[in-house]
Amino acid sequence: MITVSNVSLRYGDRKLFEDVNIKFTPGNCYGLIGANGAGKSTFLKILSGEIESQTGTVQLGPNERMAVLKQNHFEYEEQEVLKTVIMGHTRLYQVMQEKDAIYMKDPFTDEDGMKAAELEGEFAELNGWEAEPEAAILLKGLGIGEDLHYKKMAELTGSEKVKVLLAQALFGRPDVLLLDEPT
Ligand SMILES: Nc1ncnc2c1ncn2[C@@H]1O[C@H](COP(=O)(O)OP(=O)(O)O)[C@@H](O)[C@H]1O
Ligand SMILES: [Mg+2]
Repeated sequence: MITVSNVSLRYGDRKLFEDVNIKFTPGNCYGLIGANGAGKSTFLKILSGEIESQTGTVQLGPNERMAVLKQNHFEYEEQEVLKTVIMGHTRLYQVMQEKDAIYMKDPFTDEDGMKAAELEGEFAELNGWEAEPEAAILLKGLGIGEDLHYKKMAELTGSEKVKVLLAQALFGRPDVLLLDEPT
């Protein structure tokens, strides 16, 4: 669920939104329609937190996670395909990176050990052990074969990149999925 309260935004003299109040409730699929330049993309960016409105708030339901289909197809050029999919779950990916970093530490202190245990706990809670197989299944379902899973995004064709980004958005079953003009 997304609750939008009193959201306003203007660019210079141009008022895009004034006191917008709307609730997007679970189980539904909503379409946002408007002329070119009306502010559809801007509204989605406000919902995702990419930009801030000048007044008002946007709230996600408790414990809900939002995913966004990236429009910049070249955002992950240096990343591996499988990893790019997992990056769709921001917190899980962050935990994985912190874990990797802490195990590289030398000396490895007691404090590092405690932190590592904490990270392992969160990793398990977020289904971290299932992340790679789940990402691989999503990719395969979209027609991205295993031969591509460990390649860099830069090596993929345009349409393959779009499929990987779609897998990224779907990864880990987000509660809310935002798609801005997906082709
Ligand atoms: N960062 C910005 N600074 C100033 N004006 C902007 C900015 N981003 C978008 N706009 C303007 O806001 C309006 C809405 O843009 P946008 O949300 O992209 O429209 P839509 O997605 O409905 O086509 C347009 O007139 C656009 O030029
Ligand atoms: Mg747009």
